[in-house]
Amino acid sequence: MKRIPFQFTFFVCVVCQLFIPYLGSAQEKTNSIDAFHYTFQKKAIGSQGAVSSAHPLASIVGLSILKKGGNAFDAAIATQLALAVVYPVAGNIGGGGFLVGYTDKKKAITIDYREKAPSAASKNMYLDSLGNPLLNLSQNGHLASGVPGSVAGFFATHKYGKLSFKEIIQPAIDLAANGFAITASQAESFNEDRKEFLQYNTVIPVFVKTQPWKEGDTLIQKDLAATLIRIRDQGMKGFYEGETAELISSEMKRGNGLITKEDLKAYKAIEREPIQFDYKGHTIIGMPMPSSGGLLMKQMLKMIEDRHIEKLGFQTSASVQLMVEVERRAYADRAEFMGDQDYVKVPVQTLGSDAYLKLRMQDFITGKATPSTQIKPGNINPESEETTHLSVADQYGNAVSVTTTLNGGYGSKTVVGGGGFLLNNEMDDFTVKPGVPNMYGALGKEANAIAPGKRMLSSMSPTIVLKHNKPYLVVGTPGGTTIPTSVFQTIVNIIDFHQSPKDAVNNPKFHHQWLPDQVMIEHDFSKNIANALEEMGYKVQNRGEIGRTELIQMGWTHKKIKKIEAIGDYRGDDDAEAY
Ligand code: DON
Repeated sequence: MKRIPFQFTFFVCVVCQLFIPYLGSAQEKTNSIDAFHYTFQKKAIGSQGAVSSAHPLASIVGLSILKKGGNAFDAAIATQLALAVVYPVAGNIGGGGFLVGYTDKKKAITIDYREKAPSAASKNMYLDSLGNPLLNLSQNGHLASGVPGSVAGFFATHKYGKLSFKEIIQPAIDLAANGFAITASQAESFNEDRKEFLQYNTVIPVFVKTQPWKEGDTLIQKDLAATLIRIRDQGMKGFYEGETAELISSEMKRGNGLITKEDLKAYKAIEREPIQFDYKGHTIIGMPMPSSGGLLMKQMLKMIEDRHIEKLGFQTSASVQLMVEVERRAYADRAEFMGDQDYVKVPVQTLGSDAYLKLRMQDFITGKATPSTQIKPGNINPESEETTHLSVADQYGNAVSVTTTLNGGYGSKTVVGGGGFLLNNEMDDFTVKPGVPNMYGALGKEANAIAPGKRMLSSMSPTIVLKHNKPYLVVGTPGGTTIPTSVFQTIVNIIDFHQSPKDAVNNPKFHHQWLPDQVMIEHDFSKNIANALEEMGYKVQNRGEIGRTELIQMGWTHKKIKKIEAIGDYRGDDDAEAY
């Protein structure tokens, strides 16, 4: 097992020490939810249920639903609704997401609640008359938004739950109406985005105030509370029809956006067949198109499966090189072939087949970089990395893995006037023009071109791993195009390098996405290995942090759950709860 470098341990400890005095004691939060005093708990162990998410209050809400008798599906909905209130940078009702679930009846399911292009969208809508891309329009403001899917997703998920929707949504309503204490990083992020909030809104949102925000300030969201109450009382119609739909369409008219009341009314979440495959005696369950996540995971894991990576050792130059090369090959396929299967034919069977993947690795040379084709490299924008993942498990054997997003931080930055919620900028996940990278540097072609009603290609990779046909790992992360590689590495860290859940999450990550032709490494990635990669011909690029992985590992004795361990990534405000 790898020793965590001193630097790394030190960083984690300093973070803990900084947080503990300000946010009160862990005890206070066990009985009732105190939205003004909470701690960041990075690891939690229980045997009856666990939640790991991007914000302590959301994890606490999820756990409270489990304790009330809800199952993992109920808790996943409640956690997402709470995130829509306490984590506005990515938690949402104005965006979309994907859920991978495994039920106590041993059924693997996925729910697609990805945003859709509005019916008035068109292939060249982000090109000027000369064919130049207008990325500000696909990335910010009203025109950047796809038709939101999250609320439809919650109701599609509720079919698998036990509690009433009213019970599940109430904690989020209370947090929005009564407020909560914001964290230091939230204060910083509201202050940083102030200019954009003013620029892209027709009604000044609550995230803007005269004095700078500081840690511990209270955020009350009355309009959002009213929207959530409409959803509580009217169900799906409380969002997709009536007053909320009216508010969205009026906002669109004021800001020249495209989403209409008809688009909203027509939105449907879809249950899809999961991508399911074996990896070294484990069953991996992932998201199919319109997420590339499940297929990329299959390609990457299958390309390394017979190469004994465990013998190469964790983050040696040999194991990193192998992983980088499979990442490169999988992402080249993503750019060429992947998109919404309801609109284009994606050769999923071929791309995931053993024969194809064997062929794909034929030009792999140990110790030498295989250069990517020369086309314009994309510019990665690590700052606007905000999506969010949550992992939930219960004592009945249900496991739920959800990744949900507005796309960039605060999505389009546009809040629906009177509705109090942010809209996504997911249209940028379409290929605006072949050869033009999106905000994550991803390239694409016809398969991911814009069309009315089509879902944009995603990298989100909520994943469940079964061992002996029982839920073993629930994992996922935000991070744009780095999502599949982070999940891939976390799984390999556990299955092949036998790391603890905490190490698997917190150890440094690296990323290659074909183009730009470079290996991105986290700040604490070994300098020696980085040098060795450069000697092999790789361009190595430092980058701040990769992902915010939320992981749950479950241990079983015969038919009973013995232990549930939840980890919140050290990289953010993430928090793990269990009982
Ligand atoms: O669906 C996708 O692939 C992107 N919209 C995800 C964006 C994301 O993860 C942002 N960051 N952390």
